[in-house]
Amino acid sequence: MRTRILGTGMHVPPHVIDNDRLARMMDTSDEWIRHRTGIVTRRYADLDQGSSDLAVPAAREAMDAAGARPDDVDYVVFATMTPDHYFPGSGAIFQAKAGLPAVPCLDIRQQCAAFLFGLQVADGLIRSASARKVLLVGSEVHSSLMPWSSWDVVFGNRDGLAPDAEFRFNTRFRDRVVLFGDGAGAVVLGPCEEPDRGVLDVLIHTDGSLWDRMWVHGGGSAYRPYFSPKMTESGDIIPIVEGRDVFRIAVTRMPQAVLEILERNRLELDDVDLVVMHQANLRINEAVQKRLELPDAKVFNNIQRYGNTTAATIPIAYHEALRERDLRPGSLVVFVALGSGLSWGAALYRT
Ligand code: ACO
Repeated sequence: MRTRILGTGMHVPPHVIDNDRLARMMDTSDEWIRHRTGIVTRRYADLDQGSSDLAVPAAREAMDAAGARPDDVDYVVFATMTPDHYFPGSGAIFQAKAGLPAVPCLDIRQQCAAFLFGLQVADGLIRSASARKVLLVGSEVHSSLMPWSSWDVVFGNRDGLAPDAEFRFNTRFRDRVVLFGDGAGAVVLGPCEEPDRGVLDVLIHTDGSLWDRMWVHGGGSAYRPYFSPKMTESGDIIPIVEGRDVFRIAVTRMPQAVLEILERNRLELDDVDLVVMHQANLRINEAVQKRLELPDAKVFNNIQRYGNTTAATIPIAYHEALRERDLRPGSLVVFVALGSGLSWGAALYRT
């Protein structure tokens, strides 16, 4: 028995934040952001929305597509690096909001590689007959990690620039805050009797010696107290991304992971119909595509519209790819990602 994706769904919040809007908040430009990242717009949630809120409509769409009612779901895997609260995990909060029964809700926090980890967990649960329908959700409200104070400028309710002091403060983080957007993607997974279809393999690596390439300095049990006003004032709660290093590692290890998983399944690049990569930077994905010598028709990107939505990128991209690309039963899809940890890997999926 294998595990199949029975339905997909996505939700992005309504506030469309273009690069010019960010240029009102700090010293940046549409030209720089497009040239270095390929991002044109990203979405931001309302100020009172958390990750569980974005997850609900995404999950409902996935359940509808799978023909599954809330009572059919017997396990939730909720992936986020921006949980609603420090605890409990967003999975429990999501379960209540989505009206699901009292099934186990597991939060995972493998950031940009979370979809691969979640897929591996779901596959294990289904193949061991511990669950029959697993809802795997990736949801992020990255706007909660942004340095902004002048939200009226961010949301376009006030013209002009952010005040001088804020503008200077925000500019300290301009290399990374341009990357992120909010959004949620979901898949419902269930058993598949056809041995050649479904999840064929998941391959993941973690190299903890690189944990400090992408991380958040402030907040945590490494401090007393866990949170302090100083952390907010100094900007220590804003993610640190060693951009150049991560870029270099991503364009090396992502193609390696694709080749490794194909080889161990006795498949070749020519057998692949579509590669769905994590969406961290369009330039990373272009470099991976070039290294693997893949034609445009075999790659799907949507970072231009949504930025990096971390745990949500792959389920959102796959959901859109199913609508925009000609995937037939039996098509071979590769999911590939690299993220904080550092963790990276790939999964093989036959539709
Ligand atoms: N606008 C204008 N100028 C900027 C901006 C900006 N937003 N950001 C940086 N610059 C300037 C810098 O100050 C620097 O100027 P200088 O040459 O005068 O000193 C110049 O641009 C180059 O800066 P770099 O940081 O070296 O720019 P780079 O080309 O490396 O691009 C980026 C930065 C986009 C972050 C890139 O390195 C990248 O995408 N790295 C990978 C990020 C990634 O994969 N993240 C993973 C997701 S995070 C997660 O997993 C949680």
